[in-house]
Amino acid sequence: MKQLIIRGGASKKEIILPVSPLFMRDNLLNFLRDHEIPVASSCGGDGICQKCVCVIKEEKILTCMTSVSEVLNGEDSATLTISYL
Ligand code: FES
Repeated sequence: MKQLIIRGGASKKEIILPVSPLFMRDNLLNFLRDHEIPVASSCGGDGICQKCVCVIKEEKILTCMTSVSEVLNGEDSATLTISYL
């Protein structure tokens, strides 16, 4: 099964989340929140506040504007870092 590895920038801890095919089209922000990963937001996912940012392969992305499948990009796993976790 595919997986997302969530790395906390502050805590240095990692959480591995399995990704079922049913969730591939989900918005990353909602996917993370559904798995009890706290992601900051004050715009409700409209792409305005920039608080939901995470880093994947040294590139900053907005979790509210990115799908789970975009993050995995055909790979079996992807690691993303959330600085304040
Ligand atoms: S939640 Fe505000 S930019 Fe993503």
